Amino acid sequence: MNLIVAVDRNWAIGKDGDQLVYLSEDLKHFKALTTGHPVILGRKTLATFPGGRPLKGRRNMILSRNPGFAPEGAEVFQNLPALLEEIIAQRVQLLMSDHPTIDSMEDSFDAALDFVLDHKRAVFHIYNSLSRDVFERYLMEVCHYVVATYIEAAFAGREDEDKNKEMLIRYHKCACFGHIIDWLNTGMKDDVSAYFHQVYALRLGWQDDEARI
Ligand SMILES: NC(=O)c1ccc[n+]([C@@H]2O[C@H](COP(=O)([O-])OP(=O)(O)OC[C@H]3O[C@@H](n4cnc5c(N)ncnc54)[C@H](OP(=O)(O)O)[C@@H]3O)[C@@H](O)[C@H]2O)c1
Repeated sequence: MNLIVAVDRNWAIGKDGDQLVYLSEDLKHFKALTTGHPVILGRKTLATFPGGRPLKGRRNMILSRNPGFAPEGAEVFQNLPALLEEIIAQRVQLLMSDHPTIDSMEDSFDAALDFVLDHKRAVFHIYNSLSRDVFERYLMEVCHYVVATYIEAAFAGREDEDKNKEMLIRYHKCACFGHIIDWLNTGMKDDVSAYFHQVYALRLGWQDDEARI
C-alpha cells in the first residue's frame, strides 16, 4: 500500500477543493503507477476528476460517510475499518491464488510471511490500530491455508487418520501465527524469514540425530 501525493515546498496538496496544479507529466506518471491496481480516495477527490467519474483501469475505492453515495464504477466504504478489511481480504485471496500448491513446511511459512513482508509498514500500522483483531483473524486464515495446503498434499494417499492430520495442521498453524505475532510485538526488528529458515535447518539436524540414536 503506497501513498502517492504531489506536494509543493510547504507540503500543501490542494487548494479550494482542487489540485494545486495539473501537470501532464505528473498525471501520466500517476496513471502508470496506478493502472491495474486499486486506488483509495476520498469523495471530494473523486469530485475533482473529469465528470466526477472514477479512474479507468483501476479498482476505485471511495471513502464517504454518506450511505446514499453510489457513483457508477466505484465501490464506496463508509469508514476506514471497512475499507481496511476489504483490502486485507483481497490480499488473502491473492496470496491463496499465488500459492495453489506448497511443497514443504518451510515453503508454507515463507508464503505466510509474504502476507506481512510485502506490505510491512501497512501491516505494522494496522497491527497497532483498532483494526488489530481484523488483521489477526485474516493472518490466522493465511496460516491455516498455507499449512493445510502443504499437509493435505503431504498426506495424500496415506492412511493416517483425519484427526492426526487435523492435529498437525492446528499445531503448525498456531506456530506460524504465534511466531509472526511475536515478531510484530517486538517491533518487526529481526529478519523473521532468516529466523524461520535457521529453525528449519536446526530441526533437520535434530531429525538426523534422532535417527542415529
Ligand atoms: N496533491 C495531490 O496529490 C492530491 C491528491 C488527491 C487530492 N488532492 C487534493 O486534496 C483535496 C481533497 O482533500 P480532502 O481531504 O478535502 O477530501 P477527500 O479526502 O478527497 O474527501 C473528503 C471526504 O472523504 C470522505 N471521508 C474522508 N475520510 C473519511 C472516513 N474516515 N470515513 C468515511 N468517509 C471519509 C468524506 O466524504 P463525505 O463528505 O461524502 O462523507 C469526506 O468529506 C483537494 O484539494 C484535492 O485536489 C491532492
